[in-house]
Amino acid sequence: MSSRKIIRGGLVITASDEIHADVLIEDGRIAALAASGTPAAEAWTAEQVIDATGKYVIPGGVDAHTHMELPFGGTFASDTFETGTRAAAWGGTTTIVDFAVQSVGHTLREGLDAWHAKAEGNCAIDYGFHMIVSDVNQETLKEMDLLVEEGVTSFKQFMAYPGVFYSDDGQILRAMQRSAENGGLIMMHAENGIAIDVLVEQALARGETDPRYHGEVRKALLEAEATHRAIKLAQVAGAPLYVVHVSAAEAVAELARARDEGLNVFGETCPQYLFLSTDNLAEPDFEGAKYVCSTPLRPKEHQAKLWQGLRTNDLQVVSTDHCPFCFVGQKELGRGDFSKIPNGLPGVENRMDLLHQAVVDGHISRRRWIEIACATPARMFGMYPKKGTIAPGADADVVIYDPHAEQTVSAETHHMNVDYSAYEGKRLTGRVETVLSRGELVITEREYTGHAGHGVYTPRSTCQYLN
Ligand code: URP
Ligand code: ZN
Ligand code: ZN
Ligand code: ZN
Repeated sequence: MSSRKIIRGGLVITASDEIHADVLIEDGRIAALAASGTPAAEAWTAEQVIDATGKYVIPGGVDAHTHMELPFGGTFASDTFETGTRAAAWGGTTTIVDFAVQSVGHTLREGLDAWHAKAEGNCAIDYGFHMIVSDVNQETLKEMDLLVEEGVTSFKQFMAYPGVFYSDDGQILRAMQRSAENGGLIMMHAENGIAIDVLVEQALARGETDPRYHGEVRKALLEAEATHRAIKLAQVAGAPLYVVHVSAAEAVAELARARDEGLNVFGETCPQYLFLSTDNLAEPDFEGAKYVCSTPLRPKEHQAKLWQGLRTNDLQVVSTDHCPFCFVGQKELGRGDFSKIPNGLPGVENRMDLLHQAVVDGHISRRRWIEIACATPARMFGMYPKKGTIAPGADADVVIYDPHAEQTVSAETHHMNVDYSAYEGKRLTGRVETVLSRGELVITEREYTGHAGHGVYTPRSTCQYLN
């Protein structure tokens, strides 16, 4: 039985176009676009017509970096796949790519199976997986080939967190060589964790225990050094590289230089680095713990370089790195020792709105907003044009966005399972009104109409963004 919906009268914005068009949805996919008011559009009939006059009609957001239920620092990220994907939908995101974790001494398969079990039947929106590789050995390398074939086409490695997720340069090189052969994309957490641990130890010995020292020991230079090293290792391996959560201006410069040389090197930043700074980490009464994440927030001066990188395409993607820990009981684990504060910020619900605010503020254009938040993450991680655009054949993952609505961000009103907002009190222009996932209404005029289990696993092809 066919089911049809029409979205009439909105401004359809994709990474490439802005057109006043009606959108016909049939059986969960975009069937056609036609200029609003034309005979072609008027001739369509459907069970449901959604009026988008005065609104934007945009592709559902693709958040390529989330950590639902991540075990970290002796606790778990506080959003489950159920609560986190529902919050994502509220914020206009219709696809997440989360990180399955290989624990040391276990196989990739064991990690991936465990993450499938957490997500299956619980998600409000569609999801895929990257794989965190914490133990590079012969078996792991063979498993990488199998995972690429079944749709897990990207692998995160850590130059940080010795003793937890850390890989040394040899392990990184081997994984990169493998990905050069099997088409996988290495995603790098680029911070020199060995050097950082020395600085942590020295800071604590001096009695520097407050959250703000988290930002001081995790130096921008050590992000830049690791970024440079990762680029060179990828160059030696002949592999593409995607650097996650770039926060330092010096790291952007490394990426820009590599791209000028024509290398397939890509960078992601996150809203927290664009909108927050070390001023937040320095908030008194341990409030700074709310802003502890790695890479860390930087002094405000770095933000201009991140915005510039987003405009010049030296940075291609904005993801959230959503990894929430409650202030009470979780962030508090690090009272008296900043190194024990679980690392991560909530944000999966805020990304589309914050980036729309960047449009309002003149940092990026409307089409660039859609490009960095929807189209490029879909391309980068092999989901385009099923995800990330509004075009015939694409999944009908669509957001009706009111560009004039005013809102104030607050933990009182957000839907993430975390007891604070990193953007508490921030006033934003623009708000998600209605969200469709594969043609089904998940948010209807600011009411949740979705359900856990609607979201399905999305296997991915290899990177579609290479030079
Ligand atoms: O602080 C962060 N980013 N926590 C999540 C883990 C990671 O490194 O992405
Ligand atoms: Zn990381
Ligand atoms: Zn992360
Ligand atoms: Zn459903």
